Amino acid sequence: MRTVEIIRKKRDGKELTSAEIHRLITNYCAGCIPDYQMAAFCAAVYFRGMNSSETLELTRAMASSGHGVDLRLVDGPVADKHSTGGVGDTTTLVVAPLVAAAGVPVAKMSGGALGHTGGTIDKLRAIDGLQTSLTAEQLASAVRKTGLAIAAQTEGLVPADEKLYRLRHATATVESPALIASSIMSKKLAGGADVLLLDVKTGGGALLTDHCRSVRLAELMVDIAAGAGLRAKAVISDMSQPLGRAVGNSLEVAEAIATLSGEGPPDLQKLSVHLAGCMLSLAGAADDGRAGRRKIDRLLHGGHGLQKFAEFVENQGGNPAIAENPSLLCTAEKRMAVRSPDGGYIASVNARTIGESAAALARRGGGQLDLSAAIVLSARVGDRMQRGQRLATLHFNQPLLADPGEIRRRVGSAFVIGDEPADPPPLIHNILGPQANN
Ligand code: URA
Ligand code: CA
Repeated sequence: MRTVEIIRKKRDGKELTSAEIHRLITNYCAGCIPDYQMAAFCAAVYFRGMNSSETLELTRAMASSGHGVDLRLVDGPVADKHSTGGVGDTTTLVVAPLVAAAGVPVAKMSGGALGHTGGTIDKLRAIDGLQTSLTAEQLASAVRKTGLAIAAQTEGLVPADEKLYRLRHATATVESPALIASSIMSKKLAGGADVLLLDVKTGGGALLTDHCRSVRLAELMVDIAAGAGLRAKAVISDMSQPLGRAVGNSLEVAEAIATLSGEGPPDLQKLSVHLAGCMLSLAGAADDGRAGRRKIDRLLHGGHGLQKFAEFVENQGGNPAIAENPSLLCTAEKRMAVRSPDGGYIASVNARTIGESAAALARRGGGQLDLSAAIVLSARVGDRMQRGQRLATLHFNQPLLADPGEIRRRVGSAFVIGDEPADPPPLIHNILGPQANN
């Protein structure tokens, strides 16, 4: 079938065959299909969607476009975790060391910031000397040595996704559950892990803000995993307000260290323990999620996660002393308070506005990032505020490309204050996958 006929078939809402999908991806990677045709195809998928078996075939075709990571020499099932992207989402730096401390090896490839959401690789760059550019062999060997490695995507992992993601970004076709699911899962299949915990964010600060579309994304990813023989669960967690208090690279590392010391923000700790407990049960290291959470709680309060974090930092070339002394991390010189204009109750905190404002504080000339820039929140949904009470603090260095006074105004506008008490949103909305509710 010619490319134009495959596009027409999807445009008309029909199901594509496995052969059609594989031909499309192979020919696109080989440079035989021009971007304008692939853009039309992405738009057709954006509007018409794909069912689970089409999405699985798209994922398989993309995953086999490059060089995967071979983790067969690592003992036992290897675990991976993925978040669809949030604001202040530091969970990887808490969850991965705790799971590794429980004896389940973790091999995780992460990305940098995407839009208003942060990325684990930028957070790790705040740790002096820590290397995240590892080859596939170095990644496997780091996991064998300490049970934990976190690295940037290895070179040539899924070239089909690199090419397609750039095109989707330029054609407003990123926000499609089928295209996001195949993009994420192709990298997860090529990453070589045996079990996978997916943290699918939902709400204003998430990639997909709508709850139904978030559920659809989670279902597609769990179905792809099942079809590909990867044990996976998806937790749909709240991203209507930022997670934890810190939003910004270096202070998020400090927040992860505080959490591993048992002194983190309650929401970050609770979600991290939940995700880590799920990973233990998926890997067979706990009978169910509840038993997994109990085990993780013991490791957290015994300092074992923090110790594993220090080993991981040292193994990848950073200074492990930051685990005991987070003040060694870079800090910004200037502080500016954002204060409540009224008394009342916090009805909502716009996570997207906070994420965009934190990114603006960190933006330097020449595309550089100030890793010490951050917004630290002092108030969450449901809190009672007095007029003039602190809502947040901006951390930044001068000279700044943006006007800090304008950023302060925007951050202030992210807080909606009402007269009536407001209930905080649930931290976890749904769980999908085998024995979902354990
Ligand atoms: N993250 C990815 O890796 N791919 C997407 O399409 C969206 C978020
Ligand atoms: Ca945070």
